[in-house]
Amino acid sequence: MAGPDLKVRIGGVEFRNPVMQAAGILGTTAGVMRRVYEAGAGAVFTKSVGLEERFGYPNPTVVEVECGLLNAMGLPSPGISELREEVSKLRGWGIPVVVSVFGSRPEEYAKVSSMAEEAGAVAVELNFSCPHVGEVSLIGQRGDLVEEFTRAVKDAVDIPVFVKLTPNVSDIASIALRAERGGADAVTAINTVRAMAIDIWTMRPILGNRLGGLSGPAIKPIAVRCVYEIYEAVDIPVIGCGGVKSWMDAVELMLAGASAVQVGTAIMYRGLGIFEEILEGLSTYLGRMGFRSVSEIVGLA
Ligand code: FUM
Repeated sequence: MAGPDLKVRIGGVEFRNPVMQAAGILGTTAGVMRRVYEAGAGAVFTKSVGLEERFGYPNPTVVEVECGLLNAMGLPSPGISELREEVSKLRGWGIPVVVSVFGSRPEEYAKVSSMAEEAGAVAVELNFSCPHVGEVSLIGQRGDLVEEFTRAVKDAVDIPVFVKLTPNVSDIASIALRAERGGADAVTAINTVRAMAIDIWTMRPILGNRLGGLSGPAIKPIAVRCVYEIYEAVDIPVIGCGGVKSWMDAVELMLAGASAVQVGTAIMYRGLGIFEEILEGLSTYLGRMGFRSVSEIVGLA
């Protein structure tokens, strides 16, 4: 007997399953992203890319803390001209690749997105949510800017536009609504939580940038709350992200309202086998609970 249907549609694009790789994990080369897809991911998301090459912050850029990872890479990026080739290769292999985009002006987001579309991206995800790169974090905190920047990209491309939101705001649902008003086809929630760690012996912040973003298990309840609030407020799909390390976490985010989930930090700890593990657990759960399709559980909580 066939198992439950795991296919999902987001912004008109059909993905083979709802368990995707989060942006910013494992870099930007086509070879690595191909391995992620072959390991079972429903789609791959690139590290955020801008118009020009950009060097990130000085080391250390990642530090392990007791409840997850703290990172501040500073959006290092080869620039969209370089990344295009990798995106084209992935598309040539039939792999659905979503290009994560950052910038500081609406025209920049629009230009990078349109170049990503030409290269074969199935969608773009607008990063308005990096918690420590000034101009990017500012966009995500202001509904008017989220709407304006989203609209600029929508006017420039035909592929779906996802908007990745920051939890570092007092009312994430109202920001999601502005993304929807700007024409977003889906929102991704959440990016990392602004955080820091201090070395008690050097008596200094550990990260080169001092402040960073916390990811991993500690932020999952925050992600669940954000997805739940957004799902109630908007009519577009929500992609859940934040601390997913098991099929139970994926189910929890879907019950909160996520149509798909992204896995990030857990790949570092558990390797690429985590995709099959989550997919198997999800299928078994759906079967036991009597569901025929994964979309039936979205928002049930
Ligand atoms: O530092 C970084 O490149 C992080 C980006 C992000 O959190 O979006």
